[in-house]
Amino acid sequence: MTGPTPATATGLLAEIDTVGRYPTRSGYRRHVFDRAELELREWFVAAAEHRDLAVRCDRNGNLWAWWGEPGPDAIVTGSHLDSVPGGGAFDGPLGVVSALAAVDSLRASGFTPAKPLAIVVFAEEEGGRFGVPCLGSRLLSGAIDPDAARRLHDPEGVTFAEAAVEAGLDPARIGRDDEALAAIGTFVELHVEQGKGLIDLGTPVGVASSILAHGRWRFSFAGEGNHAGATLLGDRRDPMVPAAEMVLATRIAAAEAPDARATVGRLVPNPGGTNVIASTVDVWLDARAGDDATTRQVIERIRDMATEAADREDCTLTVTEESYGDTVHFDATLRDQVAAALGGVPALPTGAGHDAGILAAHVPTAMVFVRNPTGISHAPEEYAEPADCEAGVAALATVLGKLAG
Ligand code: HGY
Ligand code: MN
Ligand code: MN
Repeated sequence: MTGPTPATATGLLAEIDTVGRYPTRSGYRRHVFDRAELELREWFVAAAEHRDLAVRCDRNGNLWAWWGEPGPDAIVTGSHLDSVPGGGAFDGPLGVVSALAAVDSLRASGFTPAKPLAIVVFAEEEGGRFGVPCLGSRLLSGAIDPDAARRLHDPEGVTFAEAAVEAGLDPARIGRDDEALAAIGTFVELHVEQGKGLIDLGTPVGVASSILAHGRWRFSFAGEGNHAGATLLGDRRDPMVPAAEMVLATRIAAAEAPDARATVGRLVPNPGGTNVIASTVDVWLDARAGDDATTRQVIERIRDMATEAADREDCTLTVTEESYGDTVHFDATLRDQVAAALGGVPALPTGAGHDAGILAAHVPTAMVFVRNPTGISHAPEEYAEPADCEAGVAALATVLGKLAG
């Protein structure tokens, strides 16, 4: 461990500030097993080993840094290092660096855990490369079929199995890891708040109460590729037209449902030429709401409107559900225990998904949020004040000390 002075979250974030930064615009591109994410993995392993933590990579590509022998009833913290395309510096990494800094802080206070304590870095939390969010924690917990995971492919057509081999994993071994799961007694994830709750409450730290139900669907519109100039309007079957109507339908359907959110952030025409009527257009939908029924209602409304639009343009539509998770209600006892340990901080719902949301189905799980002055996330403007980041580290150290003491 580096000297008596514990590292700060801000200082550790500065160490990885340039990794995966876009060269010509702001924001980060850090996707599972790509060069930037592999560099972040190397950085994390070095930082953990520098703290005498024993680092292992599990069969699903998740990294585990152990303080003490891995064993049952471990207190596990951590988050992810991958980003969305164009993401900010805090979503994911703040939870990882805060865990490292909290270990420093506990050690500097003379603390020795009475239970095994681990920092985990989950793979592909954003689903930014292979399209399924929380892929590492879903594989760990058996929440995704290993064959389906192996077949996932990135926009260049590389499968998860191929990328896993490149990263030194055996794709034949991915899947539910009962041993790793059984070792977790409690999981606590620190995360920058993706919303304005703490700003409005005027407090630097809070705990999570729930996560919206949310899923991702791919709407594939197929028509007839043709010439932009030589094709009369009456002779067209242009999939871009129903795709555009589907984007508008997304907002209409979400606005009709209570507190629903539905987003199209990615639309890919094939082949994508300026003077070419597309042959197909793929549109990815992210939809979320407070409960399963409302989320499903929004999807069906969008599907209906998109189907009508496709019919009008004599195009076909195929809708594929790529991922789905029902509403997560965090363990109320642990939530209240963590809030009390922090002096009675507020409990907030979140519209953002997390690995903690996947693990919550298997082990007592809590989240600690750190104030985000603008609430913006999944964009380069995402931010957390250094003082609030250090308040987060102190909070996490307090919680880990209580749970592992
Ligand atoms: O998409 C989400 O909600 C999370 O940031 N992965
Ligand atoms: Mn995110
Ligand atoms: Mn995240």
